[in-house]
Amino acid sequence: MILLEEKLEEINAEENSKKIKIGVVGAGYVGLVTAVGLSYKGFKAYVFEKNKEKTNLLKKGISPFYEPDLQKFLQSSISSGNLVFTEEISQLIKECNHIYICVGTPIREDYTYDMFFLDSAAKEISEYLPQNEFKIIIIKSTVPPGTAIWFKKIIKRYRRGKKTNIEVASIPEFLREGNAIYDFFNPNRIIIGVDNKSIINDLIQIYRDFSAPILVVSTTEAELIKLASNAFLSTKISFINSISDICEKLNCDIENVRRGIGMDNRIGLDFLKPGIGFAGSCLPKDLNAIISIFKENKVNHILFESVKEINNQRIDLLYNKIKKALWNIKGKTISVWGISFKAGTDDIRESPTLKLIPILLKENAKILLYDPKAVNNFKKQFPELSIHPSIKLTEDIYESVVNSNLIVITNDWEDYQKVNLMKIYELMETPIIVDGRNILNPLQVSEYGFEYYRIGVNYEST
Ligand code: UGA
Repeated sequence: MILLEEKLEEINAEENSKKIKIGVVGAGYVGLVTAVGLSYKGFKAYVFEKNKEKTNLLKKGISPFYEPDLQKFLQSSISSGNLVFTEEISQLIKECNHIYICVGTPIREDYTYDMFFLDSAAKEISEYLPQNEFKIIIIKSTVPPGTAIWFKKIIKRYRRGKKTNIEVASIPEFLREGNAIYDFFNPNRIIIGVDNKSIINDLIQIYRDFSAPILVVSTTEAELIKLASNAFLSTKISFINSISDICEKLNCDIENVRRGIGMDNRIGLDFLKPGIGFAGSCLPKDLNAIISIFKENKVNHILFESVKEINNQRIDLLYNKIKKALWNIKGKTISVWGISFKAGTDDIRESPTLKLIPILLKENAKILLYDPKAVNNFKKQFPELSIHPSIKLTEDIYESVVNSNLIVITNDWEDYQKVNLMKIYELMETPIIVDGRNILNPLQVSEYGFEYYRIGVNYEST
């Protein structure tokens, strides 16, 4: 393990960075942000994305998903000539000497990663690799430990004996959706996984401008660091959610308790926000994967099973709060604020709202569904639910509460804090709020006359 806080000064950085050409395979969150970020930093970057519709949008400077500032940086990099989208992976391999693999690794039914897209990428790359030029392949997709080693083997296998001049590294990504651009330019740390020390300098050239410590480890260690980091974040969330449950029984306010816990520097307040559980395309998936990896290696996985179980119970807890507040749900109109899994994104993967909707429909409630950004995504992905007679979708927050009996908040957009509460109160039939994210100010909401229920506070004491 090498910790490089002082970047290697002796290297002629300027000179070397001109030689680096970045290739990115896969333009999802990770791939697109990597390509946009590195091209903005001055590297020439080529992106290959199989989905033609996506590539066409990207060529026009349109981001296929909502991510703050991404489109601005995308357009700037395209106009500078540093960012090129190509339909031919052969062109990317010909032009680039550092090839980032950012394809998806979805989870299979048995909770192991599906390696199909990585395997396909290995096959395609192997076809075009020149025999006499050295290429570094960098895996950025979230993968099980051991993948980089496998990837190198697989490429050689597909080459069927032809000379193969490559090294495979692992540089995991830690960016958050909704903060992806900020996180790209301001990482906490850069983890570089290599199994051959000769490529360390090449990789450091790419990251020398970032003001973050660089840790050099083996590829398998880098892959484990990524998974373990996500598992730790999930653990923190389930921990605070458990504490919030006991707060409700002991007449304590979780907001006071979490502040007190987080004031210890060793613990910190980050990822100690109670709510209705962690969601999205990463934390739940990676937790399941880490459980599978532990099981496969016959290592006790009880910690992660508990984290998962606590998370799985959060929607029931939210439903119970709604039920308790309304007394009878049948025939009631419920406004659901939040479709995306969290604020700052239109991503609805694993969103808690998707779990809540069927429960409310089963109870014969009418649903008014609102989100500042994710309404269109919901329509695209759930066309049948979008025209369901008991669901009305709206992009206007006030329209979402007309004659409503209760608002339930499922994600944490700041927009909810800026809303005209007086107007909301007047538009509702019975002004009740169940805040699954503790995003509103309880005093303010109560002053307007709402019945207000949040997480980690005893109903009677609010
Ligand atoms: C997560 C990690 O934070 C990133 O570091 C990582 O790179 C990424 O996964 C990934 O593996 O690609 P992300 O899924 O974008 O990022 O979302 P987070 O901000 O981590 O939130 C995850 C879930 O936890 C959300 O549902 C959020 O609402 C919830 N959460 C977060 C809480 O309930 N409480 C908190 O205090 C923080």
